[in-house]
Amino acid sequence: MVYLTRIEHFNAAHKLYNEAWSVEKNEEVFGKCANENWHGHNYDLYVTVKGNPDQDTGFIMDVKKLSLLINEFVLEKLDHLNLNEDVDFMKGQFCSTENLAVGIWNQLANRLPAGVQLHCIKLYETPQIYVEYYGE
Ligand code: NI
Repeated sequence: MVYLTRIEHFNAAHKLYNEAWSVEKNEEVFGKCANENWHGHNYDLYVTVKGNPDQDTGFIMDVKKLSLLINEFVLEKLDHLNLNEDVDFMKGQFCSTENLAVGIWNQLANRLPAGVQLHCIKLYETPQIYVEYYGE
């Protein structure tokens, strides 16, 4: 089994706010992410797939195809948009980096070619903080 990673980047706005809590509690729990008037992050996305190299090409899959899938089903839905309001697959969810990684997984997992599996979604919210999701 060989692992192949494509790195992408996108910018998006969001707000983390629990309506059941006071403004003070939201600020305490979510910090700057609770800002009423939104704010943005520069996200770095690592999409890792796994499989066995093809006998004819030596590739797990065509990396251009992987890039096109990520573009169509992830980046075009997120980049320069508001995660809380504009993104169909994040509707009704807290737009944390954790939930966003799961959402991105769900966008890609069933769209890979036969014999190729999604292994990991690694999503950096800042250079210091990232989450990983392995589908379970
Ligand atoms: Ni934030």
